[in-house]
Amino acid sequence: MKLKDAYKEFFLIGTAIPPCSLNEGARLDLIKKEFNAITAENVMKPILVQEKKGEFTFEEADKIVSKTLENGMTMIGHTLCWHQQSPEWMYTNVTRQEAIENLYTHIENVAGRYKGKIAAWDVCNEVFNDAIENPKDWRSALRNSLWLEAIGEDYIELAFRKVAEIDPEATLYYNDYNLNFESKREATYYMVKELKEKGVKIDGIGMQGHYNMATSPESVEESIKLFKTLDVEISITEFDITFNEAQGQEKLTEEQEKQQAFLYASIFSIFRKYKDVIKRVTVWGIDDATSWRADRFPLLFNADLSPKLCYHAILEPEKFVKENLMELAKSIEPIRKTVYENESEQININQYTMAWEGATGTAKMTWSKMCLNICVDVIDNHLNADSKYPWEQDSVGIFIDENAARSHMFHVDDYAFIVNYKNELTIVNGSNPNITTNVEITDTGYRVYAEVKFKTIKPKDGTIIGFEIQINDADRSGRRVSVAKFCDTTEYSHQSTANYGQLILKN
Ligand code: XIL
Repeated sequence: MKLKDAYKEFFLIGTAIPPCSLNEGARLDLIKKEFNAITAENVMKPILVQEKKGEFTFEEADKIVSKTLENGMTMIGHTLCWHQQSPEWMYTNVTRQEAIENLYTHIENVAGRYKGKIAAWDVCNEVFNDAIENPKDWRSALRNSLWLEAIGEDYIELAFRKVAEIDPEATLYYNDYNLNFESKREATYYMVKELKEKGVKIDGIGMQGHYNMATSPESVEESIKLFKTLDVEISITEFDITFNEAQGQEKLTEEQEKQQAFLYASIFSIFRKYKDVIKRVTVWGIDDATSWRADRFPLLFNADLSPKLCYHAILEPEKFVKENLMELAKSIEPIRKTVYENESEQININQYTMAWEGATGTAKMTWSKMCLNICVDVIDNHLNADSKYPWEQDSVGIFIDENAARSHMFHVDDYAFIVNYKNELTIVNGSNPNITTNVEITDTGYRVYAEVKFKTIKPKDGTIIGFEIQINDADRSGRRVSVAKFCDTTEYSHQSTANYGQLILKN
């Protein structure tokens, strides 16, 4: 039994690929057997079809569309309006009117060209911020993107209306990541509700579904339940589950394969429960080696195209969950590094929570009974602190959970602070921590030193503390374009210590 057959009565099973995957060969054979929907992983993105104003390059996009249709599969369009992988001329140094014209011309040409061929378009991609305070006021939650700056809050509505006019038959999606997070879930809900009430044609919500081993299936279900009330269809548009804790390994251990398969199966059994609203589940790639997150084993197939355990698990997810119930009790171990009084293992801060490139770094610590000394080396080739928010500047966030309680709320022993490359310190959460910092500009970026006096503990040999580092990367316009973490890939390290990594302090 192949995937698409196993899901015939449920929803489409898609994958995202470059056009060359549809050339003759083992990969094409596998795609034809397992999948019935194709998303262009990159070649339909604005920068690839219109890098220069008015010069359209459709060769690759044409190829993927025609081969997909020739092979009897459904073609999905991704994406028309996005703040990434789009040419700057579209939205920089332009008036509102010019930016709208750029958006319209792009849509007319791209959606127009593939009219009748694309079943569904991801019209707008990722319009929301990562940390949202008041989701009901969804406009205040909009990402400070160049589209927003150039056009204003109605750019989303304008994009949807235009695509509806150009290709009225296509199903139009709003697409975003982390839609299982409560505040982003709600902001999306309020936006889609309001726009639909105004008569804007939004037919679907795309939950990208870039998950990891800390993702709770319940949070995914909560979002499906809420979106269902909007009378839209739902697709999981970019599904993968990274095993962040296995980064650096050559392959997953047997135990890790099982844990990953269990989570795959748990989440897929939820999708099956909601087959009345779920139209399609697309995995973001075929095999671990060519995935956009190739260092973290996120997909269904190995590099040699042999199926992983998670592939088998989702063929009959309920059965797999039932037979492996033992796994339920196990939680994923946080990444743990050893810190000696004068030396430590290196911490890598390179797990992107948004984007796939941008500033990364390494850190080393030392400790005494009184304090923890942290040194973070950031690799960032252009420094900017224009934003009024420290987390949108080139900056380092440091998060400490002294009693390693891994809790969903901050307590007296928890604190979070940000230091930007100019050595400006902001306490983001936690009462009166005692912190001294210093920053040095280096050839490759900047180096942050922080001395943190312990508030509630006097550590001894073997003490474990919760610890997280975040590197924020701003672009030249002062907008944050990437976030890299040590262990906790949620956006909520400033509110919850539940997913932090750990330091074990040793003599
Ligand atoms: C990613 C591709 O997988 C990479 O090959 C490319 O380098 C960057 O973009 N959300 C999206 C996708 O909507 O378009 C992104 O795809 C992954 C995150």
